[in-house]
Amino acid sequence: MVTVSAPGKVHLIGEHAVVYNEPAILAAVGLRCHVKAEKGKDPSKVRIVVRDGYESEHRVEELRELADKVDRLWSEGKEKGDFSEPFAFLKEDWKRASQAFAGKIMKTLGITEGFELEMWTTIPLGSGLGSSSALAVSMTQAISDLFRKDLSKEKVNDIAFTLEQYMHGTPSGADNAATAFGGMTWFQKGEGGPTIRSLAKEVPHSLENFVLVYAGKPEKSTGELVQMVAQLPEEKRNPLMRSIGEMVPSMLEAMKEKDYPTIKDVMNKTWDNLHALGLSTPNIDKIVSAVRALGGAAKGCGAVGGGVVLCYHEDKELLLKTLKELGFDPWEADLAVEGVRVDG
Ligand code: MEV
Repeated sequence: MVTVSAPGKVHLIGEHAVVYNEPAILAAVGLRCHVKAEKGKDPSKVRIVVRDGYESEHRVEELRELADKVDRLWSEGKEKGDFSEPFAFLKEDWKRASQAFAGKIMKTLGITEGFELEMWTTIPLGSGLGSSSALAVSMTQAISDLFRKDLSKEKVNDIAFTLEQYMHGTPSGADNAATAFGGMTWFQKGEGGPTIRSLAKEVPHSLENFVLVYAGKPEKSTGELVQMVAQLPEEKRNPLMRSIGEMVPSMLEAMKEKDYPTIKDVMNKTWDNLHALGLSTPNIDKIVSAVRALGGAAKGCGAVGGGVVLCYHEDKELLLKTLKELGFDPWEADLAVEGVRVDG
């Protein structure tokens, strides 16, 4: 038996722009997805238990066929430049995603014997905190460890990326890298593969006074929001993406120097660009105005369109109080935590 966990992530800067080859900085965040894997009584079956969710049992072949089907829908979507079909198929029954993940991991690792998985998470789903990446990374690690595949973290990350493609069409790969490697990560897509750089040495100190607040469930999934941005006119989208990318090195310098005025300025300017892409909601606007009025910074995270807002203010207590008075339930962010790990 093996139990593993992987953290969620938060973008300090660079979501959406990272899909267009700009760099991004992400931090693993202290909420985790847990997966326990063990050999079952019947080796021809896979049993999946999602705590407080559902329980199901499948023939091994059934899950591999499900993964074949999603692979086919994904390839057709890639050809058409439109992933509506695989997204609709996975949305039709929310349980399918974890089942298809299990099938794809088995296919990739050549596993033909069944097992039992139990999963639980503290990461709010579809909130911009990388819940699907944490699931992809922790399932890959747990199943491969159970069958003693002895994968490197890089390989776990590569497989998790193929699972993220199921969910998001053409994700950048930044989310799964942030949850697999943990800490703080500089990420940029590239022709020969992405640059994934740990910022542990450059930013060794902890980042304090960051607060997260949930602004409500997004109506669209990450894949749908990325697709919506892709369908914006290039002359509107590209300058906004470039301008986010140009701010990333200043963000890193400011983080190294603990230069909080610059960190705030960059967070607020980043948010202005994401807002201009049409990614805000009335609740996010409310939070951002209140935090800015205090002299702080706030930005939506991940695909946005709802989900979590990252806020910063030197006076954390004042920030928490202000957000509570607005009717939200903020909590202090624990940033740059450990990546995927075996817990038992
Ligand atoms: C989603 O958490 C982040 C996006 O940039 C998509 C991606 O990087 O794949 C919106």
